[in-house]
This record gives sequence, C-alpha cells and structure tokens, in this order.
Amino acid sequence: MPDIDECYMVVLRLVKEAGSVVREKINTPKDAMTKSCDVDLVTEWDQKVEKLLIDGISSKFPDHKFIGEEGSSLGNTVELTDAPTWIIDPIDGTMNFVHSLPHTCISIALVINKVTEIGVVYNPILEQFFTARRGQGAFLNGAPISISGEKELRKALVMMEMGTSRDPEKMKVVLENANNLTPQVHGIRALGSAALNMCMVALGGADVSFEFGIHAWDVAAGDIIVREAGGVCIDPAGGPFDLMSRRVLCASTMELAQELAAILIQYYPERD
Ligand code: IPD
Repeated sequence: MPDIDECYMVVLRLVKEAGSVVREKINTPKDAMTKSCDVDLVTEWDQKVEKLLIDGISSKFPDHKFIGEEGSSLGNTVELTDAPTWIIDPIDGTMNFVHSLPHTCISIALVINKVTEIGVVYNPILEQFFTARRGQGAFLNGAPISISGEKELRKALVMMEMGTSRDPEKMKVVLENANNLTPQVHGIRALGSAALNMCMVALGGADVSFEFGIHAWDVAAGDIIVREAGGVCIDPAGGPFDLMSRRVLCASTMELAQELAAILIQYYPERD
C-alpha cells in the first residue's frame, strides 16, 4: 500500500502545475482534433497535461498504473486492477476549453484495490480547487464543503449534459429525459464538464447530477468528492455505482437519487 499522504502531496503539486498550463492556454486559439465523433474534441493541451501528470507521478511511483483519457483514445488498455491506479482526465470540458468558456478542469483520482482514496478536481480559470480523501471530508480551496441535503426531486436543481455522442439512440434518451424532467424539477443546468457538475452537487449548489456515456476519468474524482461531502453516487437505475459502467447519478441524498433513478429513461453504453 503506498503512502497516501505522499501521493496526495505529489498530486496536489502536479495538478497546480497542470492548472497553469490550462490557465495560460484557455484564451489562445487552439487546433481541436476529433475523437469518437465531430463534437468529441481533443487538443494538444489535453495530451500535454496528461503527459505532465503521468510523467510526474511515474517519477515518484514507478509501479503505479494509469487510466487516462488521451492514452485510452490512442488505444492504451483501460483495465482497472487492484494496483494503485491514477484515473486522469487532463481537461474535462475540452469543448469549453476550446471555446474559452471558463468551466473546465483537471480531474484525477487515485484508486487502490478498486477503492478510491484521493480525488482532485481543479478549475484553474475560476480558481476552484476541489479535494477529497477517503474518510476525511471534501474541500473547496481548503474549506470544507457539504451537500444541500435536498430530498425531493420537485425542489431539486438538476445537472445533466447533452454529452459528446451524436448517436441518435443516445440523443433521443437525453432529450426525452430533459423533456420529462423539466416540468418536475426546479431547473436543469449543464456546465459542460461532468466532473464540475458533480462538484456542484458536492458543494450544495446543485442537488443531483446524472449522465450516460461518461468515462471513468470524467467521474472518478467527482465520485469521492460527492461522497466525502455527504452525498451519494449510484448507478442511474438505482443500483450501486460502477466506475467502469459509463453511467453515473450523484445526489445530495439517497432519497433524491432513488426518486430520480425511478423515472429516468435508461441508456447502457458499452463499458470502459
Ligand atoms: C466530457 C465532459 C462533458 C460530458 C461528456 C464528457 P471531456 O469530457 O465531461 O460535460 O458531457 O460526457 O466526455 O471530453 O471534455 O473530457
């Protein structure tokens, strides 16, 4: 078992360094390349930030493994074993980053024996530094945060995303859920970053967030941050959260999570 304190210190330093890159580049013109479809983007900065994080962690912990968004899109295997594994989205909200919309972040989690020990989500543009360690609470810029406590869907502010897939079946489910939910909740919001949406639930600014089609790197850090802030993370059909299932629902309370799960139209993407 690695020294978690040391892992935490190392990742904080590297994420801050990565944040400087994102901050420096967000208002510059970028050449975006596409991945799974025309709106699934990657820039050279996603790749450089991922390399910065992996190189920095590997130099301290040579036996640690990685599941990274950009490595995976180049064909690296996505396999979660019991080994210490860092799950990395170098820029979550790449579309926002490309457009200079300031809701974009670095998201990184350390998972050991399939249990998440550390989660860090950093928006360097708005200076929002979310952190959590297992059993130690969740923090925004060093101050403790907690969920809203909301239990009722009719009073909930809901985070949901259109997502980056243009598969007609997936889009139909997303739009039907938005259509069904709108008259039943206080409101629907989307920041364009799954990790930041989840952090909004953690800090009590939103009550519930769900998405189909995300990847492990979009939600690994958000999951521990929400749970350490007092919330819950489940599968959108109501069962236990599965990091590799590409499905997530996190909420302020289990009552709210289950109320939403019961009415969502479900979508089951291919697993990570
Ligand atoms: C995406 C963002 C987006 C969500 C997509 C993700 P990326 O991550 O989190 O909000 O809707 O499902 O893939 O590609 O910007 O890292």
